[in-house]
Amino acid sequence: MSDAPEVAALRARRSCLAVPGSNPRFLEKAQGIDADQVFLDIEDSVAPIAKADARKNIVDVLNTGDWGTKIRVVRVNDWTTQWTYKDVIEVVEGAGANLDAVMLPKVQTADQVTALDTLLTQIEATMGYPLGRIGIEAQIENAMGLVNVDAIAAASPRVETIIFGPADFMASINMKSLVVGEQPPGYDVGDAYHYILMRILMAARAYDKQAIDGPYLQVRDTNGFQRVAGRSAALGFDGKWVLHPDQVAAANEVFSPLQSDYDHAENILDAYQHYTSEQGGAMGAVMLGDEMIDEASRKMALVVAAKGRAAGMERTQRWQPPEQP
Ligand code: GLV
Ligand code: MG
Repeated sequence: MSDAPEVAALRARRSCLAVPGSNPRFLEKAQGIDADQVFLDIEDSVAPIAKADARKNIVDVLNTGDWGTKIRVVRVNDWTTQWTYKDVIEVVEGAGANLDAVMLPKVQTADQVTALDTLLTQIEATMGYPLGRIGIEAQIENAMGLVNVDAIAAASPRVETIIFGPADFMASINMKSLVVGEQPPGYDVGDAYHYILMRILMAARAYDKQAIDGPYLQVRDTNGFQRVAGRSAALGFDGKWVLHPDQVAAANEVFSPLQSDYDHAENILDAYQHYTSEQGGAMGAVMLGDEMIDEASRKMALVVAAKGRAAGMERTQRWQPPEQP
């Protein structure tokens, strides 16, 4: 019953795997890793003298690799560098048919998004690609970007995600710590990232984008990753970057609903559809077991159901309408 199209199709981005474009071995290996998304990097994980080769490697591996159902993204250099235009032109002309989105780092203003949008449109027109298909992922990595995040989210229909970049952000605001993802020593009255995460989440939700948390650099500390990922997942974020295969399974689990919550959400949708119908008595607020559900419950259930379906979850338990006397 609730498999109705009103739960918008959502592409899962629970785990977003960073892969340096200058490393052919990693580009090969990434194809077999169970991440929802890969992003092939030409920015900070690639040395300046290796950027030209990275572009070529990326075009090649997008066109010839087997990426399965993964969302394929390339991170270009930001607009304050000399490299952005060549990154975009070479990669999108060379492999645009096999690319889902371009990630733009260190976005500071809406204009930087519209500049990329315009360039993409020109390349799509020149190459005969469908216009507007390639998305934009905007990384918020400094104070200016955060101040402008609403306008950045609204700048183009191509924008699909707003991403927190903690390492660059910590540098941008002079945070007194070098440990990315963990709390700065000395701040013992709450979560130092709460404001930033919520600001990004509000912009994403206001403009119907996905909110993605950035990297956790202590790659051998899976418990630490789980703890930090659990916080942004609890707030409502859709996924997180992963830097190592060990972080992938943890991200996929943390950003999926619990099985019991998924079953419950689907049951709420079924029960609510039944009770609000003519046949179910046209009621607006009803009891489901010991719980009263109404239109707001349906909206909450839609969110969990959409995330579960995008993650490929199956129902293990189904609500049945009461038998008619
Ligand atoms: C990612 O790009 C970061 O700066 O954390
Ligand atoms: Mg960064």
